[in-house]
Amino acid sequence: MLTFLKRTLATKSEGIELVGNHLEWQGLNLLKFALMEEQIMLKLVKPDIKYKNQYLEMLGEWKGTGEQPQPWVLHEDYSDFNAMVQKFENLSKGIDVPNGFVPSSTYWAYDDESGKIVCAVNIRHYLNDMLIKVWGNIGYGIRPSERRKGYATIILKLALECCKTLKMERVLLGCYKENIASAKTILKNGGVLENEVIEENSGKLVQRYWINTKSILDE
Ligand SMILES: CC(C)(COP(=O)(O)OP(=O)(O)OC[C@H]1O[C@@H](n2cnc3c(N)ncnc32)[C@H](O)[C@@H]1OP(=O)(O)O)[C@@H](O)C(=O)NCCC(=O)NCCS
Repeated sequence: MLTFLKRTLATKSEGIELVGNHLEWQGLNLLKFALMEEQIMLKLVKPDIKYKNQYLEMLGEWKGTGEQPQPWVLHEDYSDFNAMVQKFENLSKGIDVPNGFVPSSTYWAYDDESGKIVCAVNIRHYLNDMLIKVWGNIGYGIRPSERRKGYATIILKLALECCKTLKMERVLLGCYKENIASAKTILKNGGVLENEVIEENSGKLVQRYWINTKSILDE
C-alpha cells in the first residue's frame, strides 16, 4: 500500500466557499481553485469477489453519467462475478486469451480512506500489431466523481511498477490528442512523445508515448 498526497478543493477553509465553478474568498472570485493536501492510502488490488459491492457502485456511477467506462475490462459481463474474476485471472496467465488479444493484468485502484474503487487499469503484457499502432500497453480510467484529484498520476505510477515486475522495460501508451488530462498524466510519469497517428475508427489524432520503466522507477 502506498501513501500519497491528494489535492482537493479547499471548500472547508475559513472564509472560502465554493460558489458555482468559482471559489469566493472575502468577496473575491478566485479564478483558480485553491488546493489543500491530505493523505490518502491507495493500492492496486487484483479483482476479487470481496470488492463486488464497491465495483458495482463504481460502474453504477459511470453508467449514470452516460459516459462509456474505460478501459475495456469494465465492459465485462459481471452477472457471474466469480466467473468474471476468474476470467481476469486467466487472462493474466495467458489462459483462454481471445484471438486478437494478448495476456493482460487487470487491477482496481482501491482507496482505503473512502473504501471506494476509484479506477480500473489493464496492463497488456506485450504489443501485437494492433496495440503497437495506437493504444499500447496500458489502459486506465478514473471514475467521474474522483477526477482531478491526482489519482491518474499516482495510478499510472503504480501500474508502471507492475510493468517493471512483469519485466516490461519500455511501455507504450496512446491517448487522444484532445485528452489533455491523460497526456499530462503520461508526461508526468516520464512519457516521451513518439508521434501522432490517426485512429481509423474515429478519425481522431492519437498521441503515442513511450515510458522507460527502468530509468523512471530506479531514480
Ligand atoms: C484522463 C483521466 C484518466 C485523468 O484522471 P485524473 O485523475 O483526473 O488526472 P489527475 O488528477 O492525475 O490529473 C493529471 C493532470 O491532468 C490535469 N487535468 C485533469 N483533468 C483535466 C481536464 N479535464 N482538463 C485539463 N486538465 C486536466 C490535471 O490538472 C493534472 O495536471 P497538473 O498536474 O498539471 O495540474 C480521467 O479524466 C479519465 O479517466 N478520463 C476518462 C478515461 C480516459 O480518458 N482514460 C485515459 C485513456 S488514454
